[in-house]
Amino acid sequence: MENVRSARADAGGDVGSDLSEQIKAATKANHVRAENTELMLSYQKGRISLTQYKLLLCSLYEIYKALEEELDRNAAHPAVAPIYFPQELARVESLERDLQHFFGSDWRRKLIVPAATHRYQQRLRQIGKENPELLVAHAYTRYLGDLSGGQVLGKITQKSLGLSSKEGLLFFSFPGVSSPNRFKQLYRSRMNSVELTEGQRAAVLEEAVSAFELNIQVFDDLQKMLNATAGTAAPPRSNAAGLLSSPIVQFAVGACVALATVGMGMYVL
Ligand code: HEM
Repeated sequence: MENVRSARADAGGDVGSDLSEQIKAATKANHVRAENTELMLSYQKGRISLTQYKLLLCSLYEIYKALEEELDRNAAHPAVAPIYFPQELARVESLERDLQHFFGSDWRRKLIVPAATHRYQQRLRQIGKENPELLVAHAYTRYLGDLSGGQVLGKITQKSLGLSSKEGLLFFSFPGVSSPNRFKQLYRSRMNSVELTEGQRAAVLEEAVSAFELNIQVFDDLQKMLNATAGTAAPPRSNAAGLLSSPIVQFAVGACVALATVGMGMYVL
C-alpha cells in the first residue's frame, strides 16, 4: 500500500479520480523499473537473441494461459465484463503458433519456465478464484503494455532476429485492433466504468504494482537462465562435441544449469 501512496505522491497529486489515471500513476515507478531490467534493456538496444526470445515466449505463454483462463471463467463478473475483450486481445492462440514455429509440433514438452513464472501464474489463479476484480490490474498491465511499448518490441524482435515474415511474431500482432491508441482509449474508459468500493480500488492499484513486480521477477529469472546458458555454451572438448554443439542441446543443458543455479522450477506440460 505504501508503494501506491508514494506513487500517487510522485505523480504530483494531480491524478484524477479515474481508475485508468490512478493505475498509471501508481505503477509509474514500476514501469521505469521494468524498462530497466537487463532483458528489456537488451531489447531496447536491439540485442535480442533467438534463445532470449524463445525463452520469453515460453513464460508469456504460461502467464497468458492463466490470465485468459481466469478472465474467461470470470467473464460475467461485474468488474471483469467491461474489460473483457477476447476477440481483440487474446494472446494464447498466437503464442501457441509462435511456439510451434520455433519448437516444432511437440512444443508443449519443450516449455521451460522459471520459478517466477510459476509464482505469477499462481497469483493469477488465486485472484481468479478469490478476488476476480483484481484481474483488472493484471489485464491492464499486460494488454496495455503489449499495445504500447510491446509494439516497438515486436519490430525490434523482427529486425534483431532477421525474421522476414510474421512467423514467430504473432504475439505482437493484434489483427482485431486497427488502432492501438484508439483501442487503449476505449479500454481506459471501460476500466473507468468498473464500479469498485474504495477498498477494492485500493486493492486493484496495489495489485497493479504487484503485477509489474511479477513481470520484473520473470525477466530477472529469465536473464539468470540466459546468463547461465551462455556460460555453458563454451566450445565442447569431448566426443560429445557434435551433440553439445547442437543449439537445442546447449539451450537445454544451459537451462538446466540455470535452473539449478538460481533455484528455479522447470515446468514441462
Ligand atoms: C522495453 C521496455 C518497455 C518500453 C520501451 C515501454 C514503453 C512504453 C510506452 C512508450 C508506453 C506508452 C505510454 C503512453 O502511451 O502514455 C508504455 C505504456 C505502458 N506500458 Fe510499457 N514499456 C516497456 C515495458 C513494459 C513492461 C515490461 C510492462 C508490463 C509488463 C509495460 C506496461 C505498460 C503499460 C501497462 C502501459 C500503459 C500505461 C497507461 O497508459 O496507462 N511496459 N510503455
